[in-house]
Amino acid sequence: MPSIVNRVKSLPGLTGLRLLGKVLSLPRPLVLLGPDSAIRLCGTMADQGFQRVLIVTDEVLHKLGVVAPLQEALTARGVSCFVFAEVTPDPTFDVVDAGLRQLKAVNADALLVVGGGSAIDAAKVMSLSATTGKNPRDLVGVLKGRKPGLPMFVVPSTSGTGSEVSVAAVISDSLTHQKFLVIDTNLVPVAAALDPVINAGMPASVTAETGVDALTHCLEGWLSEFSNAETDGYNQAAVRLILNNLATACVEPKNLAAREAMALGSHYAGLCLSTTAVGNVHAIAHQLGGHYRIPHGRANAMVLPHVLRFYLPHCKKRLGLLARKIGLAASDTNDLQAAQILVDTVCDLIESLPMKLSGEFIQTADFPEMVQAALTEVHGLYAVPLYLSDSEVYALLHQIQQVR
Ligand SMILES: [Fe+2]
Repeated sequence: MPSIVNRVKSLPGLTGLRLLGKVLSLPRPLVLLGPDSAIRLCGTMADQGFQRVLIVTDEVLHKLGVVAPLQEALTARGVSCFVFAEVTPDPTFDVVDAGLRQLKAVNADALLVVGGGSAIDAAKVMSLSATTGKNPRDLVGVLKGRKPGLPMFVVPSTSGTGSEVSVAAVISDSLTHQKFLVIDTNLVPVAAALDPVINAGMPASVTAETGVDALTHCLEGWLSEFSNAETDGYNQAAVRLILNNLATACVEPKNLAAREAMALGSHYAGLCLSTTAVGNVHAIAHQLGGHYRIPHGRANAMVLPHVLRFYLPHCKKRLGLLARKIGLAASDTNDLQAAQILVDTVCDLIESLPMKLSGEFIQTADFPEMVQAALTEVHGLYAVPLYLSDSEVYALLHQIQQVR
C-alpha cells in the first residue's frame, strides 16, 4: 500500500485554490510578542496617528476588565476610544450590522479587536464593509471587497483560531445559523499582539479547546497536499510548541511562558491555513458544531484521535517524518513506529485535557446528513492526504459516538 493514497485526483476546485494561493501575495500582520505587547500595540496605533478607535470585544472580556488597560493606554496618548462589546460566539450578520452602526456613529478611523476568533471575524467584516460601503452579506465569497478595509489591530484572547493572520472570516445567518465564509486578502489585520498576559485569563476548558484547534490546524496542514517547505517549517515548530505547552497552560493559567508558547504555536499554525487549508477532521467536526452546537475546538478534539488512527497506515511516512523532526522519535525509528508515537502522544494529550469528549449526544439518525455534508466539504475545499468513503465516515462517527 502506498504511504499516501489519493482516491480523487486533480479536483478542479482544488486546482483553482492552489492557483489562487500562488497568484495572490498573502499579506501578513506585524506581530508583537510577549508580556504587555498589547499595551505596546496601543502605542503603535497612537504613533501611526489614529485618533478615534473602536474597540471590538465581547461582554465577558469587557466585564472582566481585559479591555480597560488598553483603553487607558490609548486615552493616555490622546486617542479617543469607544467600545463595542456585543460580539457573540459564532457572530451573526446582525452583530456585524450593529458594530457597523456604532463604527459609523463614532466615526472611527481604526479598529482594535480584543477577543477570540468570533470577535476577530466580526471586526474583519465590519472593517471591509466600512470602507467599501458594501452590505456585509455581499462580501460573502472570494475577493468581494476590492479595497483595503479600515485599519484593524488585533489582540487575540485565545490561542487557537489563528484568525489574526488569516484571509477568512465566518459569519452566521441570524435566523438559520448557516455559516458564510468571507475570503479576502483585505481582511488581514495591520498588526497583532500575542500577549500572554491577556491569554492568562482564559479558563482551562477554553485553553484546552482552542489549543486542540491549533494542534489540528498544524497536523492537517502538515498532511495537506498543498503543504510546502515554508508551511512545513511553521507547522513543525507549532506542533512542538503546542505538545510541550498545552497541558501546562491548562493547569497553570498564569504561566506566561506556556501562554506565550501557545500563542506563538497558534499563530504559526494560522500562518499556514491560507495555503494548506484544513482537512477531514475539520469537515467532520463542523458537523458536530452545526448539529449540536459543540464548540469548534472541542469538536476537533473529539474527532482528531479517530482520524489520526485511521490515517496511520496510509500516512505513516509524513506522520513519522514529523515525529522525528520534532524529536518525539529517534532518527533511526522507522516510519510506522515513529508515526505511532506521534499519534499516541496526541491522543494521550487530548485525553488528559480538561474537556468533555463524550459523544453520547450524537444521534445515529443524523449520520446520513452529517456524512454527506462532511464529504461535500472535503471534496470541495481540502487537499487531504486521503479521501474517505461514505462508510469510512460512518465508521468514524460511530467511534466518536461511542466515547464516554
Ligand atoms: Fe479550526
